[in-house]
Amino acid sequence: MERDNQKKVAIVTGGGSGIGLAIASKFVANHIHTVIVGRDEEKLKAATNQLGECCYAIPCDVSNLSSIPGLVDSIVSRFGQIDILVNNAGINMKKDFTEVTDEEFQQVITTNLCSVFSLSREVVKQMLKQGNGSIINISSMAAQYGLPKVIAYSASKTAIDGMTRAMAVELSPKGIRVNAIAPGFIETDMTAKALNADPERKQKVFGRTPMGYMGETADIGEAALFLSSDAAKYITGVVLPVDGGNSIGF
Ligand code: NAI
Repeated sequence: MERDNQKKVAIVTGGGSGIGLAIASKFVANHIHTVIVGRDEEKLKAATNQLGECCYAIPCDVSNLSSIPGLVDSIVSRFGQIDILVNNAGINMKKDFTEVTDEEFQQVITTNLCSVFSLSREVVKQMLKQGNGSIINISSMAAQYGLPKVIAYSASKTAIDGMTRAMAVELSPKGIRVNAIAPGFIETDMTAKALNADPERKQKVFGRTPMGYMGETADIGEAALFLSSDAAKYITGVVLPVDGGNSIGF
């Protein structure tokens, strides 16, 4: 299929809910053809119904790394191009350090880190043919400072920041910009679960967030739209906190 310069095609992993859904929604509102990839078919279906005809769902468990090359091939043959990749899918696990099993640690690393590598590698093969592209990895405050009881999550997100920089230096000369967004505390199911059960942690979060309230998923959508657009054409290799000041808070 010929590349269409009037059209942009994006992939958003975990696009069926939370931050991913907000990013997909912002892209679709800006006429970007957006493929949302996720595990939960019902959630994906609800998202495509909500976002309309510029949004396409492909069910795929990204932690199943061997399925990734086929996923990317099917997107390229259907859409002819991939302009934007947002690696957003992720899981968290809150447990005391000594309680975490090797299997649990590995599962978080596979989902949050290995899938980002494998999917980016396959998408970059296509972006190199095009000579351009923009990749956005979703990081976390867990990579900005030490958070207790999320050892695997912290390891995965810190590695995401390093991988973002390594990809940026290697791929930017070839026209592919690579950046990360580090969301602060954003209202989603994931944070509701993590914070509502732990009032002390909730207090700590607000205590060091200068803006004094949690962010909205749409705040991350705006940042992703900006970083993926030509308005950010000279920006690569950054980890952009969108956090109400949480990462610099006292
Ligand atoms: P969420 O749980 O609402 O969304 C995560 C999405 O990823 C879900 O749609 C889920 O089905 C999908 N997903 C998980 N594992 C998958 C797999 N193996 N294959 C395919 N899809 C999979 O959570 P939320 O909060 O929207 O998180 C999105 C990203 O933002 C994650 O990477 C998370 O670490 C990051 N983040 C979230 C923050 C927050 O305050 N909510 C703060 C910092 C980072």
